[in-house]
Amino acid sequence: MVSALTRLFLAASVVSSVVAHASPAPANWKRDNLEARHALEKRCGDVLAARRRKRSESALARRSSGVLRRTTSSNDSTCLVTPEVTQGPYHILGEIVRQNITEGQGGIPLEVSVDFMDISTCDPVQVWVDAWHANATGFYAGYIAETGSALAGGSGAGSPSGDASASLTSGATSISDAPTQTVATTSTSYGAYDGADSPSATQLLNEAVDDNSTFLRGVWQTDDDGHLTMYSVFPGWYSGRAQHFHIKAYPEGYIAANGTFIAGGSAVHTGQFFFDQDTLDAVAANPVYAANAISWSDSVSNDDDMWYPYQSATGYDATMDITWVGDEITDGLVGSITVPLNMTYESPEVSTQYASFDVEEYEAEGLLPEASLSA
Ligand SMILES: *[C@@H]1O[C@H](CO)[C@@H](O)[C@H](O)[C@H]1NC(C)=O
Ligand SMILES: *[C@@H]1O[C@H](CO)[C@@H](O)[C@H](O)[C@H]1NC(C)=O
Ligand SMILES: *[C@@H]1O[C@H](CO)[C@@H](O)[C@H](O)[C@H]1NC(C)=O
Ligand SMILES: *[C@@H]1O[C@H](CO)[C@@H](O)[C@H](O)[C@H]1NC(C)=O
Ligand SMILES: *[C@@H]1O[C@H](CO)[C@@H](O)[C@H](O)[C@H]1NC(C)=O
Ligand SMILES: *[C@@H]1O[C@H](CO)[C@@H](O)[C@H](O)[C@H]1NC(C)=O
Repeated sequence: MVSALTRLFLAASVVSSVVAHASPAPANWKRDNLEARHALEKRCGDVLAARRRKRSESALARRSSGVLRRTTSSNDSTCLVTPEVTQGPYHILGEIVRQNITEGQGGIPLEVSVDFMDISTCDPVQVWVDAWHANATGFYAGYIAETGSALAGGSGAGSPSGDASASLTSGATSISDAPTQTVATTSTSYGAYDGADSPSATQLLNEAVDDNSTFLRGVWQTDDDGHLTMYSVFPGWYSGRAQHFHIKAYPEGYIAANGTFIAGGSAVHTGQFFFDQDTLDAVAANPVYAANAISWSDSVSNDDDMWYPYQSATGYDATMDITWVGDEITDGLVGSITVPLNMTYESPEVSTQYASFDVEEYEAEGLLPEASLSA
């Protein structure tokens, strides 16, 4: 059932703009979602309200001048498990432990500010967070030859030539074997685990790396109050997907002598953060993002994104609250969100790809933080 979803994900990447822009979600998912939210028992309300207040205060303190500008799309008054969604085809293991994953990439600075808590106790939980996302023009490190402009040439469609099309076509071959009715096209409700990968998705999602670049990838740990701060740039769009930021959360892990992360077991969560439309529009107006080979008008909105409804299921709001650091968007944005975790869940890993780079060269270039190497 889940691999069918995975196939759908790849299908929408290759088939046509019609697919890319037609939401696989049933028309009433939003209403169902809202009903679910309203029906929720209001647990952890005080805890979450306090955390949100703290985030606002810290955002205010960072303001250089003027009025605080922010969007408050999420409603942190309820505590419910953050739904699982696919890790997609671009997850790479063994990433560098670092707080700032920017690695010289252009774009609008994004401070990622996340509170993790245990769904069963409402207590903060300390986790290692593996983060990865596309750059401002839609490329993923490790997959430069098959992402970004390689996916241009049709809204939501793969390029007719090159690695992208080769790899996506192999996905398409599998799609022809897929049931014509998938969970995504038949489901009238979304459970917290309906968007998760199954081990049978491995063949489709364990995509061999094309290159050894590492930009916009890294692992960092929350403080003991369950708070994560990471620094990056705002993600760009690419064909077939709304802008998103991937994470996996691991309760156990350690830093290898070369400064990379070794998970100490299964992740408890795999998910994606999304962004509200006002923020997306403002980002798209920035020239660094507008240079994307796929035009903004061909990009996919949250509502048309195939994974957004799964990530926003059961009343959870997957869009980050956004605060502007200054008056100009180029001053940076702070994205914050709360992620209640089911600490007994074993989130699947379907990638066997490991980061590979010249450790000495990275060290010489200052790409391996002292803190990680000395740990
Ligand atoms: C947010 O939470 C408040 C308090 O629980 C509730 O009254 C309100 O309807 C919620 N808003 C949304 C959009 O869910
Ligand atoms: C993160 O690194 C980039 C260089 O890759 C740098 O320009 C930026 O200032 C750093 N951000 C923070 C918050 O240190
Ligand atoms: C994104 O990555 C591609 C491939 O490495 C690169 O050509 C492009 O300049 C990057 N975009 C930005 C805005 O840094
Ligand atoms: C990545 O680096 C390793 C070790 O230097 C090398 O063996 C491998 O061929 C490189 N992979 C790619 C795709 O460039
Ligand atoms: C947490 O995960 C366990 C193990 O998969 C599952 O049995 C349980 O229903 C989940 N709890 C919630 C609240 O989702
Ligand atoms: C870092 O060290 C780990 C553990 O020894 C190893 O598995 C991994 O390949 C190394 N990573 C790089 C980039 O050399």
